[in-house]
Amino acid sequence: MKATATANSNIALVKYWGKRNEELILPYNSSISMTLDKLYTTTTVEFSKKYSKDELTIDAEKISGEELERVEKQLNLIRRAAKVSEKAKIASASNFPKAAGLASSASAFAALTLAATKALDLHLPKKELSIIARQGSGSACRSIYGGFVEWQKGTLENGEDSYARQVAPQNHWPELCMIVNVLTPKQKKIKSRAGMAQTIATSPLYKAWLETVESDLEKVRSGILEKKLSLLGQTAEMNALKMHSTMITTEPHIIYWEPETIVLMKEVMQLREEATECYFTIDGGPQVKVLCLERDAKKIEKRFSEMKEVQKTFLCKAGGDAKLIDRELF
Ligand code: DP6
Repeated sequence: MKATATANSNIALVKYWGKRNEELILPYNSSISMTLDKLYTTTTVEFSKKYSKDELTIDAEKISGEELERVEKQLNLIRRAAKVSEKAKIASASNFPKAAGLASSASAFAALTLAATKALDLHLPKKELSIIARQGSGSACRSIYGGFVEWQKGTLENGEDSYARQVAPQNHWPELCMIVNVLTPKQKKIKSRAGMAQTIATSPLYKAWLETVESDLEKVRSGILEKKLSLLGQTAEMNALKMHSTMITTEPHIIYWEPETIVLMKEVMQLREEATECYFTIDGGPQVKVLCLERDAKKIEKRFSEMKEVQKTFLCKAGGDAKLIDRELF
């Protein structure tokens, strides 16, 4: 009744932004991500009669309220599938700041899903794990897999065709790097969940976002499969800017960028002027992630780490699948 899993976070190259079904977490558009080897969450779950309620700690801090409710909802799905009613103790730890636009909910819900299903002896195929993880946090369905991953939006109302699959495995393109720059570790004020709903309700640009996303998916898939950084990077950078345009044009506006975010975006453009190929992407937070090839990665990372705006850098490559491990957190 106890298991521990670890899952890597993932950063979308074509973003998921907007739900057609908020309860089941079904997206309006498909998305593609890269699973990152250096950012991960480890979660231990134990179900037992000795617990009278679900107890959660994140990075050794006791959690209550909305965050606990989200985890309980996820555990209820899994308890129902396993036909058990035992409450659980859950401990989760990440090696990077949570809720700051570094996809902490992706790695957290992927690790939670894998650990909890194993603890209850449900040995589920990855597709099923992805469907369950999706209902905790949309982007988590992609963190079940390593490498390069597409979340197919699906069309069914029950969500059974809305899950992730691998576009290319972890070792497909070892030269591709993503440098994650942590600018401000503070948590974002508007969670992605609320931001998406507000975008759909009020941004006049949301329709335009949906109109170009299919073509971005096609280009990013080809960029990955043919290992073409220019095609992949240009499309991913533009896709991120399009998503942020929908956010900026909501009422009230959602601007996840901080002044430092723009300084880094300009630095990426400056590097390109100097013939160093790299591209940025940004999620629901101020952090700037930069795609580049291994031959330039050290130089680019050094450049960022010397900037006063940057607190920490992670030089990542494609990471592996979510997996069970022996090292328990309690
Ligand atoms: C901007 O997966 O965190 O990072 O499904 O409401 O939990 P919920 O949202 P979440 O949103 C991620 C949004 C994004 C883009 C992406 O990762 O595709």
